Amino acid sequence: MKKHLLFLGAPGAGKGTQAELLSKANSFLHLSTGELLRKEIEMNSILGRQVKDIMHRGELVNDQLVLKIVKQNLDQDNKGWILDGYPRNLSQAKSLNEVLIELNQPLEMVFYLDIPEEVLVNRLLLRGRKDDIEETIRRRVDIYRKTTEPLIQYFKELSLLEYIDADRDLKTISSEIKRKMA
Ligand code: AP5
Repeated sequence: MKKHLLFLGAPGAGKGTQAELLSKANSFLHLSTGELLRKEIEMNSILGRQVKDIMHRGELVNDQLVLKIVKQNLDQDNKGWILDGYPRNLSQAKSLNEVLIELNQPLEMVFYLDIPEEVLVNRLLLRGRKDDIEETIRRRVDIYRKTTEPLIQYFKELSLLEYIDADRDLKTISSEIKRKMA
């Protein structure tokens, strides 16, 4: 079974939901950079104060700050890990590769969750997180298209990419993911 996984996809594609289910079922570490950054904001830490406005605008946090969080968390002992929301651009993908070489834990599979824009907008408006207001959602999607989407091709060329139609019910999607990683 594959145990070093990555979820890639637009905001609202279901990365966090699927990563959470899979990590709980397998006792893997679920590393969501968005979740870790939101915790820093809740704690009102120095980092939290640095990133609060950026996240509320739906823009990307500085690569170096995010890399520091990823390194701290991947360093811990774990049975496997699932990256959710990282990397988000080519520079982050290259930094991740260097970290994984050092850890001797190569990435084994990338699940690309594909979803139409209007479906994701509706899902996020229903959820109602602080950055789930229409203007911010559109900004997040715009940044995703410009900076994150090129990673689909990047991971395809590394023969790591698995396509998932994410516009289906949760169980159907998670069964397909389980089957592909088995
Ligand atoms: P992050 O937390 O990563 O947000 P995101 O990428 O915008 O993703 P979401 O959490 O909105 O969507 P998701 O795909 O995880 O879907 P989910 O499962 O939650 O990042 C937030 C911010 O942090 C960024 O904008 C940026 O500022 C910063 N950041 C984070 N990482 C960064 C990085 N690497 N570099 C720089 N900055 C970074 O599901 C969404 C909703 O849909 C939920 O309500 C869920 O219940 C529902 N749902 C899920 N699946 C289904 C389904 N199959 N059917 C129906 N509903 C579903």
